[in-house]
This record gives sequence, C-alpha cells and structure tokens, in this order.
Amino acid sequence: MIKLRDLIIRLKGVWPMWDRRTLRLFTNREILEYLRGPGWVERETKHYSAWRQTLERGTDWGWRLAHPFPCYAYGAIDFIEEHVNRRATVAEFGCGTSTLWWAARAAKVIAVEHDPRWYALIRKAVPSHVELRLVPVQPGAPSRPEFVSHVLPGNFEAYVKALDDLPDGSLGVLCVDGRARAGCLLRAHHKVEEGGYVILDNCHRRRYQDAIQQLCAQGWYTRLFEGNGPYLAAEQHTMVFSRRPL
Ligand SMILES: C[S@@+](CC[C@H](N)C(=O)[O-])C[C@H]1O[C@@H](n2cnc3c(N)ncnc32)[C@H](O)[C@@H]1O
Repeated sequence: MIKLRDLIIRLKGVWPMWDRRTLRLFTNREILEYLRGPGWVERETKHYSAWRQTLERGTDWGWRLAHPFPCYAYGAIDFIEEHVNRRATVAEFGCGTSTLWWAARAAKVIAVEHDPRWYALIRKAVPSHVELRLVPVQPGAPSRPEFVSHVLPGNFEAYVKALDDLPDGSLGVLCVDGRARAGCLLRAHHKVEEGGYVILDNCHRRRYQDAIQQLCAQGWYTRLFEGNGPYLAAEQHTMVFSRRPL
C-alpha cells in the first residue's frame, strides 16, 4: 500500500506548493492539514498501527470478537469516547462488532438486525444488557420510499419502525448503520434525548443526502469525520448529529 507521505512527496515533485508569503515549500503536514482539515494528521497517525492490526487480523472472527470496534471513521470513534454519557441507552440499526463495543460504553444497547444468520452469530457474543431485535425483511413491494433498501429486495417497513415503541427522547445515541438508512434516520431521530447524538455511517452516499438535509432543517447540527476506520481499507465517512453546535 502506498504511504500518504510518499504520495505527497510525489505530488510535490509535479506540483511544487510554495507559500508565496514566506517563499518556502509547504511541508507535507501543512498540505495534508489543508486538504483534510485541522487535526487530521494527529488522528490518522494516532490510530495507524491499530488500524493496520484490524486489517491484518480482522478476518479472524475470534480475534474480531475479542477486539470489537464499530466500522466508523476513527475521528468519530474518538468523538464518541469523549462525549457519550455511559449511563445512556444506545440503539443501532445494523448490529455487528459495534454492538459489543457499545455494550462496554452504555447502560443498555438495543440493536435492530434484519439478517437471521448474522443475528444468531452476534447474539451468542453479546452480554445481557444488549437487546437484539431480529426484524427480517417482509416480502412484497414497499409502500413508501423510506422502506426501500438499495441493497436487498423486499419491504423494510417493520425494520424501519423497529424502535417505534421507545418513548421520544429516551436514547442517548442512535446509530444508523444497517439497511434503509434514510428511512431509519427520519423515523427514529425523535427517540434521541436533547443532548444526545445520532450517528450515520457511510454518510457520503447520495441516497442519504435528502434525509441529512431534513434533519438539518429541523435544527440538527452535523460534524463529518473522514479517514481510516477499523477492519476496512477504504476511507470511512461518518456523520455525527447533535441538537447543539458541534
Ligand atoms: C454495515 S453492517 C453493520 C455493521 C455494524 N454496525 C458494525 O459497525 O459492526 C450492516 C449489515 O451488514 C450485515 N453484516 C455486517 N457484517 C457482516 C459480515 N461480516 N458478514 C455478513 N454480513 C454482515 C449485517 O446484516 C448488518 O446489519
């Protein structure tokens, strides 16, 4: 894998970046900070060896269960570690090693899953304060666009509505990382308390943009985290929403 530093050095070879005020070449770090925003270099280097380890060993399911992480960008993971109230109830659409990670950071976790086999696998691994809800896809055409998954055929109405029984404002965090994400985001964000957070993973996908705009129009603030994330070679894009400026 090409190192970012080497890439920048090559870029500078073809496109020397001069600071016209001081008449010197910008440093690699300055270029990276310019391209990716302040703090990016620290975040990426901080997690680099941990990320490499998850890439190399994450295919071993036993290792993964013993070292569980959500697949969010590391910046979002750091943000959560710093801000989330550990007495909170957390709910997520799309269970996985994230469910185990949240279980160590929340008083209660409710996770919604559509895939019976994945549900059975995760169920064996979670502690008793995790409530896993299996909500399989229903046959037939969805009656509304919010109940459509772009990955799987069928009707995700019951899945999108799987947290309807929770009182509004009862969650500290809602994570949307499963199927029919736009529908889940719009349907369930009311369940989050005033000082709580919503997390949307892979937020760069075009099909989520309308829902993101709708939350912003309702007064939610957003912060985007991009960069490496556990187990995955591709760059991750994770958005955190809050009703207070972030
Ligand atoms: C993006 S994944 C959810 C990941 C989870 N929130 C995490 O960070 O660990 C969305 C869905 O993909 C399926 N899934 C996740 N990991 C899988 C795997 N390793 N093999 C098969 N299905 C998987 C599950 O049905 C899950 O609900």
